[in-house]
Amino acid sequence: MSTHIPLTDINAELQSATPQAILRHALQEHDNIAISFSGAEDVVLVHMAAEIRPGVKVFCLDTGRLHAETYAFIETVRKRYDIQLEILFPDAAQVQKLVSEKGLFSFYEDQHQECCGIRKVGPLRKKLLTLDAWVTGQRKDQSPGTRADIPVVQADKAFSRPGETLTKYNPLANWSSQQVWDYIRALDVPFNPLHSKGFVSIGCEPCTRAILPGEHERAGRWWWEESTKKECGLHSTNIDK
Ligand code: ADX
Ligand code: SF4
Repeated sequence: MSTHIPLTDINAELQSATPQAILRHALQEHDNIAISFSGAEDVVLVHMAAEIRPGVKVFCLDTGRLHAETYAFIETVRKRYDIQLEILFPDAAQVQKLVSEKGLFSFYEDQHQECCGIRKVGPLRKKLLTLDAWVTGQRKDQSPGTRADIPVVQADKAFSRPGETLTKYNPLANWSSQQVWDYIRALDVPFNPLHSKGFVSIGCEPCTRAILPGEHERAGRWWWEESTKKECGLHSTNIDK
């Protein structure tokens, strides 16, 4: 980091900045930074970042349970952009143990946290240990219950190493879904074909469904659980306040 200005001040300064300006700031501040790409509309970040820093690092957490469309889309993105795309896998022994003991759909019976912990959070934690900063596609409008206050930049309290701050950027925090989709259409950014089939928020196949007109996008995720708990642990600081 070239600056010693507190992140809370930088966050205040960047509140009205565009996602591109926030990304430019993030990429200037950190060499060792990567974008966390889910295979959904957060593709706009990949598009913007590849223009600012060709060869930018991007990673996807492959839970083993993504839709076939999402896998195909991730490969479309790999071919389309000048990025270093890394696919991260869960620990095989942990998945083996979970599935042997509880089967392939334990999350419908005892909630999603255990499976997400193994398939998403574990691999993310391992990856973040190697980085100084990461970038996510989180937005305030995605989840009024848990994301309404997310800053554009923050110290990542969930994943920082002792004594070393991991910086987390959310350049799309203040953008609406409408602005993201206007950008995708205007710049001919490729998108996951599931979005044309009623899927708005896209996660793993067994835990994501299309929504009806008027339903909030989060209603399509872990729909059998209470809406206040709809965070999988990637962004646990959103609910651990
Ligand atoms: S989740 O926590 O509910 O799964 P969501 O789908 O809203 O997250 O995505 C928010 C951001 O989290 C994405 O823009 C991306 O930065 C990150 N993210 C979510 N899922 C993944 C994934 N499978 N691989 C990489 N990043 C992800
Ligand atoms: Fe498991 Fe569902 Fe979480 Fe994916 S979203 S890791 S399938 S509980």
